[in-house]
Amino acid sequence: MQKPKIQVFPSILSADFGRLSEEAHRLELAGADGIHIDIMDGHFVPNLTLGPKAVAAIRKSTHLFLDIHLMIYNPFDYVEAFVREGADRITFHFEATEDVEDTLEFIHKCGKQAGLAFRPETSFSMVPKFISSCDLLLLMTVNPGFGGQAFMPDVLEKIRLAQEAIRRQKSGCVIQVDGGINPDTGKQCVEAGATVLVSGNYLYHQKDLKQGIASLRV
Ligand code: DX5
Ligand code: ZN
Repeated sequence: MQKPKIQVFPSILSADFGRLSEEAHRLELAGADGIHIDIMDGHFVPNLTLGPKAVAAIRKSTHLFLDIHLMIYNPFDYVEAFVREGADRITFHFEATEDVEDTLEFIHKCGKQAGLAFRPETSFSMVPKFISSCDLLLLMTVNPGFGGQAFMPDVLEKIRLAQEAIRRQKSGCVIQVDGGINPDTGKQCVEAGATVLVSGNYLYHQKDLKQGIASLRV
């Protein structure tokens, strides 16, 4: 079987927030496939990060694909703002809204890719029915909220099951993993069926960002 192409999305959560434009440019030079931007509301997760204006600033300084990860309640209400400021894909949490289908549909209506994220403890049984309506499944490999946490290996089984379900449904949906990803855990996720890797802490501790990104692709 042909080896799948692995995409690497550095998480800007681990970057210097005083220099977001420069950081975005640096990621472009280092060969990132896009930038993962974590949006937290202090309610869905116990942390606060960035909003649409920060996304606009990043958008101005790079042509890279902007991958927005919403960890907020009522994601539907914020889709338009993030689209306006330059998002290319908007991923929101299954656990954050009763309007999963409507929100996925609205993101598509805005002409953007739509992703659906699942916390580690959310059962796999919730996943299959949404595969046909989204471009990406984000299977969290830590509890969302903070960078620098340890990878949760129990999620590997969920990745395998999701990959099988995607294949059975003949869907083009891809699997993204986020949390505690380094070359070792990334490889385990890729073997289980993930093709889109998000990494913050590991990448930002590398002397050479370009080599760090390349090390996740093998
Ligand atoms: C956690 C965020 C992640 C985080 C990953 O809630 O969604 O994107 O930045 O960071 P690391 O790679 O440090 O676990
Ligand atoms: Zn994230």
